[in-house]
Amino acid sequence: IATHQNVTRDELEGRYVIVIDTLRATSTIVTALAHGCKQVFPVANLNEARVLASSWDSDKVLLGGEGQGRPLPGVFLGNSPRDYTAEVVGGKTLFLVTTNGTVALQKAQKAAPVLVGSLLNGETVARRVLHDDPDDLVILCAGTQGYFALEDIVTAGKIIGHIWESRPAVVNELAIAAFQLYQFNQQQLPSLMAQTIHGRRLVDMGDGDDLRFCLQEDIFPLLAHQAVARVCLLTPE
Ligand code: MLT
Repeated sequence: IATHQNVTRDELEGRYVIVIDTLRATSTIVTALAHGCKQVFPVANLNEARVLASSWDSDKVLLGGEGQGRPLPGVFLGNSPRDYTAEVVGGKTLFLVTTNGTVALQKAQKAAPVLVGSLLNGETVARRVLHDDPDDLVILCAGTQGYFALEDIVTAGKIIGHIWESRPAVVNELAIAAFQLYQFNQQQLPSLMAQTIHGRRLVDMGDGDDLRFCLQEDIFPLLAHQAVARVCLLTPE
């Protein structure tokens, strides 16, 4: 388990990685794909998003994201997963800019495979890892302000719990700690998360409904993976 600030692109090259940004980037991406979005390009900033999007038909493209949690100026979509409805994102290509989540995804661009994890699809992600049975697994947490975020550790713990059930010997002690944190708090995730830096910020900004949305477990049993710089659905074999 690492934060993206603690590892380099080269250290991730060729490794099996799950990227998690529970609040809210990977939850938003999973929701968008569940609602028919074709693909998501994680982008570092709005200028880059605009340049990349300009080579696409404007009616097929959406820009979305946040800066300091707020919608970006002049951009139709923020980073609230609740805004990524089928009516809005169906059939579209999305260029998404966020503070930590899209940066972590970009960091993992040399890794393979790269799965996108959230509470919304955690069990499906774990089942895929068990199916692929990799020699090692990096759980790359987006974190907040350069530090681990509790909500990412809890999501990691959920995914690890499903892996641990089947492969007890391969889970290290940090992973066990993450699982126990998840297991201990599973029935009170909203109250735990309302105390985290990011959870508090969402509540303070009036986005408490996003917090509750992102804490739902396994409502979108889908696999999303990043390949060739974009995230799309991975069809199970
Ligand atoms: C991030 O990437 O830091 C988050 O997704 C920010 C947010 O949406 O609040």
